[in-house]
Amino acid sequence: MTDWLGLTGRPALVVGAGGLGGASAVALAAAGARVLLADVDADRLESVRRDAKEAGADLETAEADLSTAPACRALVGEAADRLGGLDVFLHAVGRNVRRPVLDLGDDDWSEIVNLNLSTAYWSGQAAGRVMTANGYGRMVFCSSVSGLLAHPHHAPYAATKGGLNQLLRVMAREWAPCGVTVNAVAPGYIETGLTRAYLDADGHREALTALVPAGRLGRPEEVADAVTFLASDRAAFVTGQILYIDGGRVLV
Ligand SMILES: NC(=O)c1ccc[n+]([C@@H]2O[C@H](COP(=O)([O-])OP(=O)(O)OC[C@H]3O[C@@H](n4cnc5c(N)ncnc54)[C@H](O)[C@@H]3O)[C@@H](O)[C@H]2O)c1
Repeated sequence: MTDWLGLTGRPALVVGAGGLGGASAVALAAAGARVLLADVDADRLESVRRDAKEAGADLETAEADLSTAPACRALVGEAADRLGGLDVFLHAVGRNVRRPVLDLGDDDWSEIVNLNLSTAYWSGQAAGRVMTANGYGRMVFCSSVSGLLAHPHHAPYAATKGGLNQLLRVMAREWAPCGVTVNAVAPGYIETGLTRAYLDADGHREALTALVPAGRLGRPEEVADAVTFLASDRAAFVTGQILYIDGGRVLV
């Protein structure tokens, strides 16, 4: 079937070249989208560009620190200029600090809220301006099972993912009449730079795997498949949804 996903030639901005953003950027590029991938880490960008080449695709990159509103807006403007529009936007930056609430400092809170939630708002708002004016858009955010479950030692992270879920639902409702869908993927534990050190320590990998009905952790490519669907023409009537990619973790 030719271009079943309808992604050929679609201008797509992916923010975050880590495990999930990188795999999704490669999948979108392999599906024919014209991808601009942004990250603060030039080595990550280069490594994903190599992965894309191996998959027979190509993508453009932009090195950018997205921790402020002007930087997020400038990147969205740069993407729309370089790609000649913006049909797809994926937000895949985020970090976690695992400590009990009573041990958290003010900076832990503000840095996580800034990176996980404020950058999603700033860049999503800027992308939404382009997409609503154009009458077409597919926006995807990276939420988490932590936006639903009350994992201990995850307070700022869980708060940002719960906040993100509500942010995208309001965006979805406001922008649905303009042909713009807004959804999230919500992964369980996937082995990436975000989780690797934690999974490697103190039997965490085994303990966390035991909580997953499917009996294993997820793979970045499995998140990328869901992102690709939500970014595609096939998901035109799906909006405001949080799609759990977790082997059944939130059922337990
Ligand atoms: N990996 C998982 O198990 C998992 C599970 C649920 C949700 N998520 C979410 O998915 C998203 C991506 O996670 P990941 O596993 O790919 O993480 P990752 O750590 O592999 O990648 C995050 C990327 O964000 C970039 N980044 C950090 N600060 C930045 C800044 N100021 N400006 C630009 N780039 C910046 C990093 O350089 C890195 O490449 C995050 O929102 C995360 O919370 C991940």
